[in-house]
Amino acid sequence: ETTPDDASGTYSLVVVSNRLPVDKVVAADGSESWRASPGGLVTALEPVMRESDGAWVGWAGVAGDHSEPFENDGISIVPVSLSAEDVEFYYEGFSNDTLWPLYHDVIAPPTYHRDWWDSYLIVNQRFADAAAAVAAQGATVWVQDYQLQLVPKMLRESRPDLVIGFFNHIPFPAYGIFSQLPWRTQIVEGLLGADVIGFQRVADAGNFSRAVRRLTGYTTKGATIEVPIEDEAEVQGNPLRAKVSRRGHQVRTVTARAFPISIDAASFEELAHRPEIQARAREIRQELGDPEIVMLGVDRLDYTKGIGHRLKAYGELLAEGKISVADASLVQVASPSRERVQTYMTLRDEIELTVGRINGDFSTISHTAISYLHQGRPRDEMVALYLAADIMLVTALRDGMNLVAKEYVATRFDNDGVLVLSEFAGAADELKAALLVNPHDIEGLKEAILRAMQMPRHERSRRMRSLRKRVKEHDVARWSKSFLDALADQTLAQSSADAA
Ligand code: G6P
Repeated sequence: ETTPDDASGTYSLVVVSNRLPVDKVVAADGSESWRASPGGLVTALEPVMRESDGAWVGWAGVAGDHSEPFENDGISIVPVSLSAEDVEFYYEGFSNDTLWPLYHDVIAPPTYHRDWWDSYLIVNQRFADAAAAVAAQGATVWVQDYQLQLVPKMLRESRPDLVIGFFNHIPFPAYGIFSQLPWRTQIVEGLLGADVIGFQRVADAGNFSRAVRRLTGYTTKGATIEVPIEDEAEVQGNPLRAKVSRRGHQVRTVTARAFPISIDAASFEELAHRPEIQARAREIRQELGDPEIVMLGVDRLDYTKGIGHRLKAYGELLAEGKISVADASLVQVASPSRERVQTYMTLRDEIELTVGRINGDFSTISHTAISYLHQGRPRDEMVALYLAADIMLVTALRDGMNLVAKEYVATRFDNDGVLVLSEFAGAADELKAALLVNPHDIEGLKEAILRAMQMPRHERSRRMRSLRKRVKEHDVARWSKSFLDALADQTLAQSSADAA
């Protein structure tokens, strides 16, 4: 007979995400190395992972890679391999051409392919199996983001002893949009395998609860959802977890609520204090030809980021003579992303055409209208850019959170600089002292840019102080602690309710 112990590993905390904190890099000569992968998740979870005996399960970012588990900076890395077809169907297809546009309010049309769904199922099962194989008895497994929404249920089926958390880093859409998905019920059931499901905004958690009610009929009370227990093995695996609902069914409770993610604010401030980074910030302004005002945009090159809307507003201000390139020049960092997905290729062409036109029409020999960088940049250089920028433009059409907005604020220990922030970014729920804009309203966006350019120092300072207070107090350590505490409370509350 097999006991659950036979199936379990040794780690008490397991993080599962599509991308590992490190990406494998294969050089032209075939030599291999690892480098930090993009994204804030690593810094968010690194400290917690080091304190506990943590393992990180994820993909190394290269098709066909079969790396063995290894240790990186005190964290155990457990690679999951994806074939070229998995990458095409599960990652580029279902994750980034179905779920991504659907969850961002169909800014681009989602594509529905049954083959992609089949691949999503298979790959989610592979991640679930890999996590189950390394998690100790009663361990906590924390699953991340939209690529892995079926993993919580799959894990619960094979390992009912586990405590399972899920965090969705992107928006969760209103039911009228979510209901397009042919596999909507399976996705909701997949997520409900978790004990706690976290979202960026209160509105996302509300959208999810509505989808649960519409698709499953389960009872929801505030943040709590009662999920019937179908499988007796689930009760045996963790008898304390089951309780009896008012209707006499065996149920377990799931919490679905907002946990807005953040950044390691102190580390940005620390970099900003370094003399060499401040010198680099001054140098950037000089190299731009010392314009009166430097404006900055920093995004993955993604259609959700509203880069085109931002360029349109800036181009019109130049065309109307309201500003000149010597008054205000724009630096746009657009880091390459998902380059084999057609929508991203089309977007790149559109943005680069627009940048070329604006530069052709308005640049002078001494001043370039838009300094466009289709490159990722190291963190030091980003902090120098944030310090050099009088105005930060975050004009996303839809964004789960937008950590760039928080990074800019964390960097500005001088209490200067103006954040222009889209109300459609999750960050707008917290960063109320920013100049909030509707990026679809081009006239409104132009007015906000002019207002930011003319804002008196005392108002800039008052707003930035208020923004900084929020970001410093609500940093990423607080985020991960509050999620893991909620997960511990949730399982504890259930145990004591049943014991009583
Ligand atoms: C967003 C998603 C992450 C993803 C990141 C980079 O922030 O929420 O899950 O890792 O974009 O995208 P990529 O497809 O390159 O992993």
